Amino acid sequence: MRAVDLIRKKRDGQELTTEEIGFLVRGYSEGRIPDYQMSAWAMAVYYQGMSARETADLTMAMASSGETIDLGSIRGVKVDKHSTGGVGDKTTIVLGPLAAAAGVPVAKMSGRGLGHTGGTIDKLEAISGFSVELGKERFFRQVNELGLAVVGQSGNMTPADKKLYALRDVTATVDSIPLIASSVMSKKIAAGADAIVLDVKTGSGAFMKTLEDSIRLAKAMVDIGTQVGRRTVAVISDMDQPLGYAIGNALEIKEAVATLRGEGPADLEEVCLILASHMLILGGKAADEEEAHALLKAKLQSGEALDKLKGMVSAQGGDTSQIDRLDLLPSAELQIEVRSESKGYVDSIQAEEIGLAAMMLGAGRETKDSVIDLGAGVELRKKIGDPVEIGDTLAVLHLNPARESGRAEAERRVLGAYGISGTKVPRRPLVFALVTPDGVKRF
Ligand code: URA
Repeated sequence: MRAVDLIRKKRDGQELTTEEIGFLVRGYSEGRIPDYQMSAWAMAVYYQGMSARETADLTMAMASSGETIDLGSIRGVKVDKHSTGGVGDKTTIVLGPLAAAAGVPVAKMSGRGLGHTGGTIDKLEAISGFSVELGKERFFRQVNELGLAVVGQSGNMTPADKKLYALRDVTATVDSIPLIASSVMSKKIAAGADAIVLDVKTGSGAFMKTLEDSIRLAKAMVDIGTQVGRRTVAVISDMDQPLGYAIGNALEIKEAVATLRGEGPADLEEVCLILASHMLILGGKAADEEEAHALLKAKLQSGEALDKLKGMVSAQGGDTSQIDRLDLLPSAELQIEVRSESKGYVDSIQAEEIGLAAMMLGAGRETKDSVIDLGAGVELRKKIGDPVEIGDTLAVLHLNPARESGRAEAERRVLGAYGISGTKVPRRPLVFALVTPDGVKRF
């Protein structure tokens, strides 16, 4: 077999066999196929696409390129949740405890943030002493005893995806639906989930800017899950503005805890309840969304979900007094208000711009090696649909003096991110569609 023949075959719109895809992935990951040939193949895929069978083959080839986690020693149906990335997305910190309180074991591996998106692991590290590296035995034991653990992704998982993703990043081949779908699903499958709930974001702050593209991506991922025997559903949720009001690590922990206390923003609570409902259904703890929703709401109101979070923080070495007293979490010295220069109603908030502003204040990483400031970030005061007067505070920048140099640019970006119009715009739906193996249900 020769890589050049497989590139030509894909370039001409033909389907590759399972063996041919395995040959490319193994060859590239083990260094026999050079970057220039893999780039040409990725570009051919970008233009010609892949069949559902080819996409599932690519997923499995990447999933088995490195370490795979066997969650077999954890009792029950292990349901993973994955978000395609967003700004202010702290759903894992809310729905992990919620689903665990309702009886679904949550053995979650999460990532760190890069660029305008944050990472769950960085957020959890805002809690003093919280360890995201437990070792496999301790990770399994904690999930069996408590029902919940969140750790960092093992460095040895899906090396083929890591290498291919880095190549796609510099060859303008990231935004190909089969390549994104296989990349995401390879990591979920290597992490050992029995069933998967996907949160596919749509809108200005998401990979997929339009609803139709988001549905196509969701379908591709649900198809992969179905083909490889993992029950998978996808919720298409809004990322046309950040989720909740807080963007930044400690700020997001505060908002997640407030939500578990029943005092959080309505959009964040609702998205978490919807995603967690599907986890309960896949995990066999509820028959339908209505039953799941009621069960989860009860866990929220009784404080059991908050207790689960505290249990996890304690088990992973974190300081639980910071959950009881949110003022003990890291905070930034300076709080700068960004004020509106016009009057009307907020009609858009460019989530990506808010994420970039938070990054400039130190909340995120510009490069893989950047050190983040756990207290920094942006706190929104206005969301889409809210009325605004000239001089009203749109958002508050949280920063430490060391980041003064980024302040002016962050202020400009936050102000520029807000669209204000003269007429009241309706609030956007939070969830646009549900994609299951049976089809697409639009709301
Ligand atoms: N996230 C991933 O993990 N992979 C992609 O290709 C895109 C987003």
